[in-house]
Amino acid sequence: MLRLAVLVSGGGTNLQAIMDSLDSGKITNAGIVTVISNNAGAYALKRAEKYGVEGLVLSPRDYPSREDFNQGLLEALKEREIDLVVLAGYLVVVPPCVIREFENRIINIHPSLIPSFCGTGCYGLHVHEMALARGVKISGATVHFVDEGTDTGPIILQKPVPVEQGDTPEVLQRRIMEQAEWIILPRAIDLIANGKVRVKDRTVWIEE
Ligand code: GRF
Repeated sequence: MLRLAVLVSGGGTNLQAIMDSLDSGKITNAGIVTVISNNAGAYALKRAEKYGVEGLVLSPRDYPSREDFNQGLLEALKEREIDLVVLAGYLVVVPPCVIREFENRIINIHPSLIPSFCGTGCYGLHVHEMALARGVKISGATVHFVDEGTDTGPIILQKPVPVEQGDTPEVLQRRIMEQAEWIILPRAIDLIANGKVRVKDRTVWIEE
């Protein structure tokens, strides 16, 4: 069984999609071991409690230095023998020590078709504001491995979603979640859990 840590900062609808997919058998050979949040008030932690898994608050503010936080996060993952770290709306920069230890074992969901509307400062509603300001007709979501850059790691899955005339950032965000994020994040976990994902150079190969 692939031991998952899901890292969250907010509402946790992607976490919920993972839990539902585990329950329904859309994800096999995996289980959530811990949900880690930097934000004690995150609704995602309530979802973890309801689901019956550990919810852990690890905030940089609770450590004397950023380096101490980084080591604390790394230790928490190693102690729990985590195989795959899933960033599901996690707003903290993952420290290099964690990225090195978990090479090609950290995935992130990003609410656009990378390489559009990604990189530093491009998160949350900003992504959709930028897509609407540019006037694209198609946006979507991307699941990718996390490397030391921002949104630069190997792409695992992408799903396009139409932009409709009159969309607000909030409306577009919701459509992308419903039609893309909640589908491709669980799907990527299932593929990884069943040994179907290989990374060669910067390209992901999937055996269906
Ligand atoms: C999602 O849009 C995700 O793509 C982004 O942050 C949002 C998290 O939403 N990285 P939720 O907490 O899963 O509801």
